[in-house]
Amino acid sequence: MERTPHILIVSRDEALEPEVREALDGISDVRAVVSSAESWRRGLEMVRNRRPDLVLFAIGADLSELRSFMEEVQLASPSTDTVAVYHPSTIADSSSKESTLLIEALRIGVRDFLRRPVSSRDLDQFLDRRLRRPRTEERPLGRVVTFFTNKGGVGKSTLSLNTSCALAKRYPGRVLLIDASIQMGVCSALLDLRPSTSMTNVVTEKDRLDATLLRELAVPHSSGLHLLASPFNALEAAMIDDDVISRVLNLGRRSFDYVVVDTFPMIDKVMMAVLDLCDRAYLVTESVVPTLEGTARMLEVLDELGFPESRRRLVLNRYSTFVGNIRSDEVERRMKFKIDHIVPYEKKILVAANMGSPYILQPGLHSRFRKAINRIADEIEAIAPARAESWNGNGSGGGSAAEADTPIGGELG
Ligand SMILES: Nc1ncnc2c1ncn2[C@@H]1O[C@H](COP(=O)(O)OP(=O)(O)OP(=O)(O)O)[C@@H](O)[C@H]1O
Ligand SMILES: [Mg+2]
Repeated sequence: MERTPHILIVSRDEALEPEVREALDGISDVRAVVSSAESWRRGLEMVRNRRPDLVLFAIGADLSELRSFMEEVQLASPSTDTVAVYHPSTIADSSSKESTLLIEALRIGVRDFLRRPVSSRDLDQFLDRRLRRPRTEERPLGRVVTFFTNKGGVGKSTLSLNTSCALAKRYPGRVLLIDASIQMGVCSALLDLRPSTSMTNVVTEKDRLDATLLRELAVPHSSGLHLLASPFNALEAAMIDDDVISRVLNLGRRSFDYVVVDTFPMIDKVMMAVLDLCDRAYLVTESVVPTLEGTARMLEVLDELGFPESRRRLVLNRYSTFVGNIRSDEVERRMKFKIDHIVPYEKKILVAANMGSPYILQPGLHSRFRKAINRIADEIEAIAPARAESWNGNGSGGGSAAEADTPIGGELG
C-alpha cells in the first residue's frame, strides 16, 4: 500500500531538502508531501498550520535552540514525529561524544535520528517503524467542568474561582479557568489580575489559534492557575459565539489537565456549547424559594435537552441554618431533587472578593467552606480522563469523557 506522509524539513542548510527528496525517490511505496522551512520559527508556524506527520531537522553540536522548538512542537501537534538528522563529523569528534549528544537530544524529546547523507534504506526503515505504529495520541484530554444556573448572583463565579484555585494548588500550571460570563466577567477582578489578553483574542487570532497560543492568551496567577479572561467590554463580547467557545474548550483541554468554566446566568447557544463539551456541570442553587423553583425548571430543561444525569451535580451554595432559611433536607423533600454538595455561607468570601485574593488560597484554619470546595475538587479529580484519539486540528476533537455519554441535543430557539 502506498504511503503518503507529510514531511516538514526545518534546516538552514539548503542541501538537506534535495538530499531527503532523493532518498525518498528511492523508496517505491512512499509518495511523501515535502515542505521546508529555513528557521525554527517558520518551522513552528508550519507545524501549527499543517500538522505534518514528520518534522525532520538538522542538528549540530549546540542543542540550545532545539529545546524550545521541541516543546512547542509537542504542544502544537503531539502526534508529529520528530527526527534529527546529523553529520557525525559536525556534532562530535569521537563516538562517545556523539552518543552523549544524542542522549541529550532524546531527553529534549527528539524521537529518532538519521545520519547524513540521508539514505533511502535508513529513511525507508524509519518510515516503516513510524507509519506502522498506530497513530493515536496518548495524552489524556483535560477534564472540563462548569458552574451554571439560570439565576444570577447565586455563586457561580465564587465556586468556579475557588474550585479552580483548589485544583491549581494541587496541579500548578495545569488548570485553566475560563471566564465565559462573557458580558460581565469578574474572574480577573476576583484574582486581582489585569490581563492584556482575553477571549476576544481567540477571535482576532483565529487563523493561528492552537493549544499553544491559547496557553499564551491565558494569564498566569501566582497560585498556578491560568485565566482566560472574559472580553473587556460588551462590544467585544458580541464577537463570542458557540463556535468560539467550543474551540476554546477543545483546545483548552488539550493543553490543561483541568478546565473550569464560569458562566453567564442564561441558557443560550454559548451555554449550550459549554454543556455539550463539559464532563461535569455543577448546577448552583441556594435555599431561597424563588431560586429553588428556578432550579427545578432548569432541571426540567436539562431533561428535555437530554443532558445526562451522570454529568450533573447540584450544589446548594451560601447555605446557613439561620432562622428562616430552608434546611437542606427540607429542600430535597420539597423540591424532590438530590443535593450533591452543600457549600456553607462564609462571610469572609466578600472580603476575599474585595481583596482580589481567593478565599481558598488564604492561609488559615480549615473552614467548612474550604472543606466543601475541596470535596468538589476531589470529585473533579476523580473524573476519568479521556484520550484524544488523534490530533486533527482545532476542531471538535473527539474522545472527551463527555462524549462517552450521549451529547446533548436540541437547538435553542
Ligand atoms: N458561599 C458563599 N458564602 C458567602 N458569600 C458568597 C458565597 N458564594 C457567593 N457569595 C457572594 O455572593 C455574591 C454573588 O456571588 P457570585 O458573584 O459568585 O455569583 P454569580 O452566580 O457568579 O453571579 P452572576 O450571575 O452575576 O455571575 C458575591 O458577593 C459573593 O461574594
Ligand atoms: Mg458570576
